[in-house]
Amino acid sequence: MIGLHSSERLTDERVAAVLAMVALATEEDGVAPLSEHVMLHLRYGGDRQARNLILEQDDEVIGYAHLDPTDPVAGPSAELVVHPAHRRQRLGLMLVRALVAEAGTGPLRLWAHGDLPAASRLAAAAGFVRVRALWQMRRSLQARLGKPQFSDGITVRTFEVGRDEDTWTALNARAFVRHPEQGAWTRADLDLREQEPWFDPDGFFLAERGPRLVGFHWTKIHGKDGKAGKEGDHEHQAMGEVYVVGVDPDERGTGLGRALTLLGLRYLRSRGLFQVMLYVDETNTAAIGLYESLGFTHWDTDVMFANVP
Ligand SMILES: CC(C)(COP(=O)(O)OP(=O)(O)OC[C@H]1O[C@@H](n2cnc3c(N)ncnc32)[C@H](O)[C@@H]1OP(=O)(O)O)[C@@H](O)C(=O)NCCC(=O)NCCS
Repeated sequence: MIGLHSSERLTDERVAAVLAMVALATEEDGVAPLSEHVMLHLRYGGDRQARNLILEQDDEVIGYAHLDPTDPVAGPSAELVVHPAHRRQRLGLMLVRALVAEAGTGPLRLWAHGDLPAASRLAAAAGFVRVRALWQMRRSLQARLGKPQFSDGITVRTFEVGRDEDTWTALNARAFVRHPEQGAWTRADLDLREQEPWFDPDGFFLAERGPRLVGFHWTKIHGKDGKAGKEGDHEHQAMGEVYVVGVDPDERGTGLGRALTLLGLRYLRSRGLFQVMLYVDETNTAAIGLYESLGFTHWDTDVMFANVP
């Protein structure tokens, strides 16, 4: 008899059973099925709003899905895994349907790691379409970081809440004309993120030429209550993120993106962090080139699928 359980918190016994199944799946597929973020929350807890869906048969965990409803703009997202010895029995489909039901009326995003064919086929069978593939890149913050070199006429300051929202939104749209998901952010999207506990204007750098905003680097700290530096909901080691870097098309090729990235990396290092990661669309070759030249290497490929409810 197969049972499906949904809960906010898992018992220690269930966590151990999920981790054992994840280890088997990693062995079978050659890639870990869950993101580091979900794994950390499984091990250490602290993800109060998340939903955990467990498929069990005779007290054995044969499937697991994690639903994260906390992104106020992009909507809920989920990851799932089926025990290697129980695949092709429509359990994956069962989990996806349960996730859709838990997620409510809006669209749901499914993340898959390693770009495996089974994930793409399951997503298609469940009525999801491939939206994009992201590279996750990382580098150490302990290795040497060059000095940011800004060209003449450029000044740098940090984001001022209540003053920079509209100009930033306009620049973001210009900078990401070819990457609609990022470029379509509205003022309301920015306002919502400003309410998030991790939002830290001191780590949000703006470059200006005279009065004109021409570039930015918005950094993010995972696993720490950004500004206060106190541990928040997370109980694992904090990591920095190059959240978004954007440069006005008129200023491209002048080294502004590189200088802004370095400035933000130095800031993250000054906050005591050892590692930094970023997501970049796999088609964004210009950005990947910049990050590679700054010492970032490819860490993982994450594919995002979405349904059209
Ligand atoms: C992807 C995964 C969850 C699929 O789980 P599953 O229980 O084997 O999938 P299901 O039996 O529910 O498959 C439903 C449909 O998806 C398609 N499908 C799933 N796996 C497939 C495979 N290996 N080859 C071809 N089609 C496949 C089929 O159309 C299938 O229906 P069918 O069996 O009637 O033909 C499982 O392989 C897994 O845990 N992979 C690692 C984690 C992962 O990639 N997660 C992301 C999921 S988006």
